[in-house]
Amino acid sequence: MKKIIALVLVAVLTVCCLAGCGNKKENKQPKEFQTKELVMATNATFPPYEYYENGKIVGIDAEIAQAIADKLGYTLKIEDMEFDSILAAVQSGKVTMGMAGMTITPDREAIVDFSNTYATAVQSVIVKADGDIKTLDDVTGKKIGVQTSTTGDIYATDDYGDENIERYSKGTDAVAALVAGKIDCVIIDNEPAKAYVAANEGLTILDTAYAEEQYAIAFAKSNPLVKDAVNGALVELINDGTIKKIIEKYIPAEEVPAE
Ligand code: ARG
Repeated sequence: MKKIIALVLVAVLTVCCLAGCGNKKENKQPKEFQTKELVMATNATFPPYEYYENGKIVGIDAEIAQAIADKLGYTLKIEDMEFDSILAAVQSGKVTMGMAGMTITPDREAIVDFSNTYATAVQSVIVKADGDIKTLDDVTGKKIGVQTSTTGDIYATDDYGDENIERYSKGTDAVAALVAGKIDCVIIDNEPAKAYVAANEGLTILDTAYAEEQYAIAFAKSNPLVKDAVNGALVELINDGTIKKIIEKYIPAEEVPAE
């Protein structure tokens, strides 16, 4: 008899505990579901993905995020910060997501979750048109400017040595240093590279041998419900052609690399 009572007690306790745990989870609804607001962290020095126009952050990422927010019936708030700070802001829950032409890398995947990919890129080397860097081999031993913590920084450090890398908080600052003759080249994603070259006289681009990169939206690993909601909307926008239309508004179709 004692044994049966003990067993019943254990069973009751187990059920209570499970129900309790369940309740706790329900209480931990993502704040986005209540506020109906998505907060996007970005670094708006990266045309055509994010940059300022008339005091407002515009570009491919801003438009895609707005389309996602519209689809979910949420408002969108964009927070501009150092590229270097975006993942920490995402991890801490200070923002809903990081969207900054951000490449999926194994190191980043270890600390955040990524959405489906919505765009691709390759790294480019910006040089002075009349300078002596004509091929990738010529980059060896030269002063290379990069935006801190970007894939350009990571790859260039690996390939050319930390002692040759000059890190800048903005891609535009790296390009200004190149124009001023303080460094010999800048390694950065191909689309901003094209925009920087178009905005500054006397610069030109070499493509690197680095593999194609996939851009995606970063989320805290602790926030899978929000990730699923945002990613669900993103996938619908990919499938119905909206994302392609937004990208082609900023990057003429003939320049988009074939998939
Ligand atoms: N794709 C590169 C990376 O993920 C560079 C991204 C820089 N983005 C920016 N908004 N500044 O590292």
